[in-house]
Amino acid sequence: MKVGILTGGGDCPGLNPAIRGVVYRGLDFGFEFVGIQEGWRGLVKGIYEPLTLADVEEIHYQGGTVLGSSRTNPFKKEEDLQAVLENIQSAGFDAIVACGGEDTLGVAAKLYSQHNVPTVGVPKTMDNDLSLTDFTFGFDTAAMVGMEALDRLRDTARSHRRVMVLEVMGRHAGWVALYVGLAGGADYITLPEETLDVDAMVAHLSEVKARGKKYALVVASEGTEIPMDESEKTVDAFGHVNLSNRNVGEFLAEAIQEKTGWETRSAVVGHVHRGGSPTLFDRVLGQRVGVKAAEMVQAKDFGKMAALQGTSVVAVDIVEATGKLKTVPPELLEMVKTFRK
Ligand code: F6P
Repeated sequence: MKVGILTGGGDCPGLNPAIRGVVYRGLDFGFEFVGIQEGWRGLVKGIYEPLTLADVEEIHYQGGTVLGSSRTNPFKKEEDLQAVLENIQSAGFDAIVACGGEDTLGVAAKLYSQHNVPTVGVPKTMDNDLSLTDFTFGFDTAAMVGMEALDRLRDTARSHRRVMVLEVMGRHAGWVALYVGLAGGADYITLPEETLDVDAMVAHLSEVKARGKKYALVVASEGTEIPMDESEKTVDAFGHVNLSNRNVGEFLAEAIQEKTGWETRSAVVGHVHRGGSPTLFDRVLGQRVGVKAAEMVQAKDFGKMAALQGTSVVAVDIVEATGKLKTVPPELLEMVKTFRK
């Protein structure tokens, strides 16, 4: 079988281990691999390169993706969709393994259901917001980077007797903010799943100060709802609002300083989350879901995604996995309140 692999959407650590897993297991079945460059754009433009054992052997510890990535949506223009279908035909692909989040895998799902393209999905995203999988690779590394940033901010916050607000990525799911805040002992965490109550946050920080603590840390998810001028909104090819230019951290820092009189600064982790060597967890998970994806191709189990459920990696329906975002559930939102002392 000739199998094309692509990585689409925002990159994250774990993509290279996943590619390695697909190729290593696929070689057991005698597959020939082709690396489709830059996500779905590679299939629109016909940019591919052979992908051999030598190409993937040493990539397990490298961040990013050796295949390149983009947020191309081939369903936006009919001519792009036709180009994808023709290129799949002319390149002779028997299957496409797509590594991505809800957008990239949403395209894989539609290609399968509407055009019978044999696709298999590999879930990746630092946001950890894909349904039917307990974790996605990229999340652990991204959250670890956030935790380290918070640990560093604690030192400077304590020295200067300040409040430090750390804005983290995660889009419309608060997983990264939740884990960074819990692991780093934040005094307050704001999440997209909860309506922002500035007065409650300010009141809590004032209590923290009143009980004698000389500094405080706030972790803010970039997806936290704050007032915003509609005209400033920009969207990507999949219609997602660009959240980084909303400056949630800065907004909260200004509100805290103004309402409490406590000197406050903000910092943003941004794309630093997505770089660097994948953690042990992401290296292993990436390779495990990659191996499963190759096994699914061999079994012709198309229109499915390899997912971590408990301690097993299983095949799940790709439409279901991408149909609804996995956000932070109420019980975890409730638990966070325990740490507001
Ligand atoms: O989906 C991953 C992610 O890092 C989000 O957390 C963030 O909102 C977005 O991508 C940033 O996208 P870009 O790399 O296009 O700026």
